[in-house]
Amino acid sequence: RNFSIVCIPGDGIGVDITDAAVQVLSALSATFGTFTFQFETLDWSSKNYRQRGYYAPEGGVEGLKKYDAIYFGAVGWPDVPDHISLWQMILPIRTTLNQYANVRPTRILPGTVSPLAACAADPSLLDWVIVRENSEGEYAGHGGTTPSSAHALHTVATEVSIFTRVGIERIVRFAFEMALRRPRKKLTMVTKSNAQRHGMVLWDMVFYEVAREYEGRVEYDKMLVDAMTVRMVKSPQTLDTIVATNLHADILSDLAAALSGSIGIAPSSNLDPTRTFPSMFEPIHGSAPDIAGQGIANPVGAFWSAAEMIRWLAGADGSSNEEGLVEGTGVGHMVDAAECLMTAIANVTERGVKTRDLGGESGTKEVTDAVCEEISNV
Ligand code: NAI
Ligand code: MG
Repeated sequence: RNFSIVCIPGDGIGVDITDAAVQVLSALSATFGTFTFQFETLDWSSKNYRQRGYYAPEGGVEGLKKYDAIYFGAVGWPDVPDHISLWQMILPIRTTLNQYANVRPTRILPGTVSPLAACAADPSLLDWVIVRENSEGEYAGHGGTTPSSAHALHTVATEVSIFTRVGIERIVRFAFEMALRRPRKKLTMVTKSNAQRHGMVLWDMVFYEVAREYEGRVEYDKMLVDAMTVRMVKSPQTLDTIVATNLHADILSDLAAALSGSIGIAPSSNLDPTRTFPSMFEPIHGSAPDIAGQGIANPVGAFWSAAEMIRWLAGADGSSNEEGLVEGTGVGHMVDAAECLMTAIANVTERGVKTRDLGGESGTKEVTDAVCEEISNV
């Protein structure tokens, strides 16, 4: 079966790591021979914005609906305010395509070292999946700034979070289903419902309602986000699946990535669990202007995201609300292909072929070539 993948490399290292991911995906289809990817690339970059005044052209986001999946690099560059790049592209894609679940797994790869002493000694202590609400909450975009250039001292800006029962319920249920499929069957819900007394309180309430359906099947608890940062650092082994709001999960997943060794290895899936529209796969890091153009970006987060994309396309993602594989030839092999890619990554990091952020000396190309070679040796 052939899958049409639209690539949006974006800016900075987003371009390097998207190229690397395309190479690795092509190596997989060549090795397995039962599925192919047809790539199309869109230049929705900050350069495009400066030249033409937009990232995605009129109707561009709607046009993404015709592909099987979206592979995204990273967007943002110092000469465009970050809220513009985010709001012109990545946030509209997530909301327009109903990608309400953002799934962010974290593990420590072989040959890499966690900054946590306990996890450096026993990497199995850290094995988490953060489920991020991806469609509303703090990133709903509501609010405004009083027009007060004449009275700048009195400028007031509001940033209004929007939480809906439907939005909370669907992400909480998704997270319980995810927890149910993982060995430890534990779910921790994160809010700040002591200080924020409306939306966060609704989260807690809806969480406990949904939790009743999973009583005895999933162990669950609740944390305030500030205390959660401490628990992640002090007792990582007590956590498994984590569900949080858009902003909180954004922050916690960067912390999770850092605790696992580097933000450069962390993947994410922006999923439409109803499978009405294509889902989007991207490493969690940004365009990293500080290292762009040097050939040293870590492509591992991009590869891991590609593995998650393959699993999703095969219909076999552990996070899916649906069971089983998509009908058709070859897709069963795709689960093996995703597994093969993860093994290839692990073998390469274990051998010490790592970029600088992981303490190695290799460049993007060396790591990519090594992973492709592992794949072709299967
Ligand atoms: P960043 O993730 O781009 O970089 C943070 C730090 O991590 C930098 O020191 C960078 O060199 C390092 N780093 C990140 N990815 C790496 C990789 N693959 N290999 C090695 N080192 C890596 O975050 P920052 O600096 O806050 O943002 C830079 C730009 O990216 C901004 O314009 C921001 O808005 C944008 N951004 C875009 C995202 C997206 O497209 N989804 C997500 C996060 C930031
Ligand atoms: Mg982030």
